[in-house]
Amino acid sequence: MLHLDRFPRYPLTFGPTPIEPLPRLSAALGGKVALYAKREDCNSGLAFGGNKLRKLEYIVPDAIASGADTLVSIGGVQSNHTRMVAATAAKIGMNCVVVQESWVPHEDAVYDRVGNILLTRLMGADSRIVPDGFDIGIRRSWEDAIQSVRDAGGKPYGIPAGASVHPLGGLGYVAFAEEVRAQEAELGFAFDYIIVCVVTGSTQAGMIVGFAADGRAERVIGIDASGTPAQTRAQVREIVDRTAHLVELGRPVRDAEIVILEDYAYPAYGVPSAETNAAIRLAARTEAMITDPVYEGKSMQGMIDLVRKGFFPEGAKVLYAHLGGAPAINGYSYAYRNG
Ligand SMILES: Cc1ncc(COP(=O)(O)O)c(C=O)c1O
Repeated sequence: MLHLDRFPRYPLTFGPTPIEPLPRLSAALGGKVALYAKREDCNSGLAFGGNKLRKLEYIVPDAIASGADTLVSIGGVQSNHTRMVAATAAKIGMNCVVVQESWVPHEDAVYDRVGNILLTRLMGADSRIVPDGFDIGIRRSWEDAIQSVRDAGGKPYGIPAGASVHPLGGLGYVAFAEEVRAQEAELGFAFDYIIVCVVTGSTQAGMIVGFAADGRAERVIGIDASGTPAQTRAQVREIVDRTAHLVELGRPVRDAEIVILEDYAYPAYGVPSAETNAAIRLAARTEAMITDPVYEGKSMQGMIDLVRKGFFPEGAKVLYAHLGGAPAINGYSYAYRNG
């Protein structure tokens, strides 16, 4: 029994997300493994939703209680997270400052005009592009932005990249595991594996803690999309420990229960490989399921490769956690100009 109920939750999502079978994708990969998707990308009416909202549901009560008037966060130029913080600020009536670092060497003429950054600006956030490169850690530019709000007489509330190293950042995806267990009881079967993209870490970390409760943590297969997997793994480890303590898991999580595959992040964060693009096209053409070149396209690529390699035993049921992120694809209009 995990102790989630003691943490206040501010609803930003519709409720449990659907689990959808992917029969045409499963068949296209040989039909020996049954693939399903949990549609976290359809979880809310707030600016196209996505995984960050589950995390923010546990952070907003603390932000409100702090008396803050401005949420301050950070991500790349096409960050889904900063879009979701901007959406949350609009919805709860706070101001928003987001630092957008230059995480991706982009070639598209409209990269910094469309998709996530367009939506972020539309929702009234003060979006500040800075030249710093990719790093999932605590950043000077974010601390400077927090100070700039104070200097202007505001009361900032800082949310780090991906809401991950926030003390409450792992709780949302513990709740995901509880939700999957309830859905499995209705479906009459349990999933053998869960596939999840990992970068800043709290999505997978929360799932690991949540599924550790019924001994399935090592069935949560993280697909690294950061390209800096040592830092991502260390951050997942830290969030797992903090979150396990918060919900009183009652035992330490072993290193072997943290599974992160490093083979699919190439050539770099935010840059799709030919295999990523093939995976994005296959999911789109078999299931009309849209995945992005930064995150979900890479975890889709990983899942497809694992099926083809025979990693999953015949008859396995595999749940792909679709975490959102489709708006970023607009920043890659040249790459997909012919489909
Ligand atoms: C669409 C999408 N998928 C996956 C991730 C990775 O999740 P996390 O940063 O919690 O590891 C993110 C955010 O970084 C995301 O926006």
